[in-house]
Amino acid sequence: MNISIIGTGYVGLVTGVCLAHHGHHVTCVDVDETKVDALNKGRAPIYEEGLDTLLQKVKDHLTATTDIYQAIQETDLTFICVGTPSQNDGSIDLTYVQQATIDIAKALKHKNTWHLVIVKSTVIPGTTENEVLPLLEQYTEKKKGSDFGLAMNPEFLREGVAINDFLHPDRIVIGTSDTKSASLLKKIYSSFSCPIIETSLSAAEMIKYASNAFLATKISFINEIGNLCKQLTIDTYEVADGMGLDKRIERSFLNAGIGWGGSCFPKDVHALIAQAKQWNETTPVLDAAVKRNELQPLKMVALLKKHIPNLKGKTIGILGLAFKPNTDDIRESRVIPIVEQLIKEKATIKVFDPKAMSNFQQLYPLLIYCSTAKEVLESDAVLLTTAWSEFSNLDFSQSFVIDGRRFPAASKAKQYEGVCW
Ligand code: UDX
Repeated sequence: MNISIIGTGYVGLVTGVCLAHHGHHVTCVDVDETKVDALNKGRAPIYEEGLDTLLQKVKDHLTATTDIYQAIQETDLTFICVGTPSQNDGSIDLTYVQQATIDIAKALKHKNTWHLVIVKSTVIPGTTENEVLPLLEQYTEKKKGSDFGLAMNPEFLREGVAINDFLHPDRIVIGTSDTKSASLLKKIYSSFSCPIIETSLSAAEMIKYASNAFLATKISFINEIGNLCKQLTIDTYEVADGMGLDKRIERSFLNAGIGWGGSCFPKDVHALIAQAKQWNETTPVLDAAVKRNELQPLKMVALLKKHIPNLKGKTIGILGLAFKPNTDDIRESRVIPIVEQLIKEKATIKVFDPKAMSNFQQLYPLLIYCSTAKEVLESDAVLLTTAWSEFSNLDFSQSFVIDGRRFPAASKAKQYEGVCW
């Protein structure tokens, strides 16, 4: 099939490259000319494991353009993969989705063949039906069903492993209200071997939000249990292993530490809470998961102050700035509240991260940015805050380590504390 993808962030680009890998002809559309030029030269404008290699493999049937009108004319279906950032009150910002929808609709108005519009961006339940559809009908002056189809197909991609997650999904969720759209989307995914769930537009939207909110809550849960384990010198990871053997619980996302960051969990949980308020619904479970996640990083500082009550002038080393390993993304990284607290305590802060240093330096230029992890070890205390594999074989024997992400090698430190184990 001829497919167009609006938005070439990690969701749009990974979707485009992987669908091209599955034999479709893909046109990636973005307003950013540098991204478009890079793609047409076979270069990925973002880092994702395996993306460059796959892009080279599919370059004969993947093109990029800034011309959304032409892309719509030349394709049979379009995935909307633009960003849905948070507004100041945590609610979802639909500006990019609305603009993409209007641009698609203006092109569809002059197209006389049936076209399927698919929302893949993470949108609050009800958005596709109540925001996207009215804009499509208004700007195409046509009717859904006879002239165009509409579907919602959420993604479950983790940053850094998005190619793997797209090519090997646990499930594919298709939200539609008409059979023609459903059958075309099932045809697109017919080469995938996982279960395909067909449901309503809003249920598909909710499956995405509920999945992310549950995973975030699962992590906050094990962190809370971890704080209790710490009181009893129980190893939380042994508790998680024991819990995880129960197939109703399952072991993944039970790694206790300093909590969850990134561009998705925080954004999606806050958007769901904000939307619930609109519906006059309370969300005490989600509120508690967020609260725990805000408090957890500060547990590290409290532990540090248990050993060094006055941090003023002390040199504190931080290993890990990215919100998780294998990415340079620092959005909502759990190290941020720790750095903020150490600055307040007037500590001298030395940091190292394999990928995220330049991003972090834009936010905190006055920290000491070391060129190696080893330099950070020469501090009064070392905080381990991102689970980079590079830190696993460091010599911690001369250091006082507070571990926020569970490094077995660090337990051999001169002095060692786990944040919640
Ligand atoms: C997440 C979801 O996993 C993915 O399905 C969705 O599409 C996008 O959001 P991502 O944000 O890329 O993916 O990262 P993920 O690997 O889920 O980790 C999120 C955060 O949780 C990271 O800060 C990570 O350090 C933390 N985490 C993860 C834990 O603290 N403990 C765990 O057991 C797992």
